[in-house]
Amino acid sequence: MKKLLDEARKNKIAVGAFSVGNMEMVMGAVKAAEELKTPIILQIAEVRLKNSPLELMGSMMLAAAENSKVDIAVHLDHGLRVETVDKALKLGFTSVMFDGSLLELEDNIKTVKSVVARAREYGATVEAELGVVGGNEGEGKKHDIMCTRPADAERFCIETGVDALAVAIGNAHGNYPVSPVLRFDVLEEIHKKTDTPLVLHGGTGISDEQFRKAIKLGVRKVNIATASFDRLAEYAKAYCDSKDKANYFELSAAEVQGVYENAKKHIKVFSFID
Ligand code: 13P
Repeated sequence: MKKLLDEARKNKIAVGAFSVGNMEMVMGAVKAAEELKTPIILQIAEVRLKNSPLELMGSMMLAAAENSKVDIAVHLDHGLRVETVDKALKLGFTSVMFDGSLLELEDNIKTVKSVVARAREYGATVEAELGVVGGNEGEGKKHDIMCTRPADAERFCIETGVDALAVAIGNAHGNYPVSPVLRFDVLEEIHKKTDTPLVLHGGTGISDEQFRKAIKLGVRKVNIATASFDRLAEYAKAYCDSKDKANYFELSAAEVQGVYENAKKHIKVFSFID
């Protein structure tokens, strides 16, 4: 992933990181990336592994990356346990996130530092989170947003040696109940204090204008999950509603199409393609 983030920095764009949960999601995202000749990141969060087991999904994501015409990083999103991070690294993921955002700063630094050391043995990249992104990734308790403190970000990046930092600037996972108000002033301060590529989580519902402003202020990876899952479900429903008897193969194609349309739209925004 480091290579993709370095190229994105050079080209002043961001890489789209698309969450996947089945084969159709992988195929839809890869189809969009290949059509636009743009690298992407395929990712899966630890909370999603109960629906899409790591060994199965991970192998599929890795096979898609190996066979793709564009560069694709395979990333564990929101790793919550060091054991899961280890499993992903052993499987061949080229990048892992350890989410210690709910830990005290010192504990977050300590744990991420050890994850960075582990990942280096595999030549993999590490993302961490500082501050708290709102909502939640999966079911359960929704977290309140706590903006990243720029001074903490500077210290965190230096002490952990992390490759990418997820920031909290008013963004949240899931569909926003009202349009998000992003703290670009906070993002700008963080960007001034660290060269580390920044990651914007909670991409669903953020406007094109906001994305592009955030990219100008150092965001190099943007996470999209809910919009992909929602588009897949909508396209699948529309297909089933249009038929008296649904056909599996047509249903599968509709799912790919929904994810493809969503990924294509976002890649264009993140790559400044009009
Ligand atoms: P959304 O579900 O809001 O797109 O957020 C995705 C995300 O940040 C995954 O980590």
